[in-house]
Amino acid sequence: MRNRITEMLGVSFPLILGPMRMITLGEMAAEVSRSGAFGQIGASGLSGERLRSELHRAGRLTDRPIGVNIPLYRPNAREALAIAIECGIKAVTTSAGDPATFIDKIKDAGLKVLHKVSSVEMARKAASAGVDGVIATGFEAGGHIGRQQTTTLCLVPQLVDVLDIPVVAAGGIADARGVLAAFALGAEGVELGTRFIATKQCPVPEYFKELVIGADSDATMLLGKEAMPIRVLKNKASARIKDTDRSKEDAKLEASGEASYVQSGGDADTTIMPCGQIAGLVKDLKGIEELLSELSAGCRSLSRKLSLLFNEES
Ligand SMILES: Cc1cc2nc3c(=O)[nH]c(=O)nc-3n(C[C@H](O)[C@H](O)[C@H](O)COP(=O)(O)O)c2cc1C
Repeated sequence: MRNRITEMLGVSFPLILGPMRMITLGEMAAEVSRSGAFGQIGASGLSGERLRSELHRAGRLTDRPIGVNIPLYRPNAREALAIAIECGIKAVTTSAGDPATFIDKIKDAGLKVLHKVSSVEMARKAASAGVDGVIATGFEAGGHIGRQQTTTLCLVPQLVDVLDIPVVAAGGIADARGVLAAFALGAEGVELGTRFIATKQCPVPEYFKELVIGADSDATMLLGKEAMPIRVLKNKASARIKDTDRSKEDAKLEASGEASYVQSGGDADTTIMPCGQIAGLVKDLKGIEELLSELSAGCRSLSRKLSLLFNEES
């Protein structure tokens, strides 16, 4: 398959591993890239030294392209970009901040950049700053989402209609039906986060995987609505944060998981587990290669079925 996203990222399947703070590290990113999609390491929460070592680890495991996600509001953003450039990364994704701040450095180094957006206005700004594409993150996605509450189904076609650069759909996609739906809306790629939590190689505690696999359609909730919204699994920890009357700054810090994020230890009751609404569709644990080959075979067979259906109808 060839389109602007496969060309930009150097992959055969335009599917991106959604960066997950302190979860999508070198090994997981490498496994995704080895399987034909685009693996990336989330720089959030990593020291410069750790990011460099995860990039080296990924480089030892695959010579296929991998990326780095840089949340722009975090204090380590500038250093993370410098390390990505030093390690020969060819494409980065950026989120949570103004891409104009770093665009000159990114372009001078010859990198491609996809910026995460949650509204048409944000996407227009990113496009005029000079990003190469946007990742449209819908309200149903796991992790931080926009305050706008626009769903992937509504956001993607609106962006496709006003932008000249390619759009990648993120939020609510976990199987071939979701991938094809995104492409029908005009997306040229997809980014999946929640589905990858229930994979054998995902380095999260078993209880997190089990909760994703056992989730129903109503398993998630929003925290930090006023400050910085984040979609997480419902549990005692998220209920406590929700119920407590906190200042915006406290809510922002706690909701973004500084204190009780799943990767900092704890258990199923005490940790905050970012997760998307699509967890309700995830029913099994898979290996990453198996997941990606099923997804790409599923897209081929479903697109044949759809094309027959519409041909018959016309
Ligand atoms: C546990 C978790 C951590 C995440 N951390 C980040 C992050 O550090 N940076 C970022 O840009 N997105 C982050 N996200 C969002 C994902 O990269 C991805 O865009 C999102 O999960 C896609 O929606 P889905 O969960 O419905 O597949 C996170 C999501 C989850 C579930």
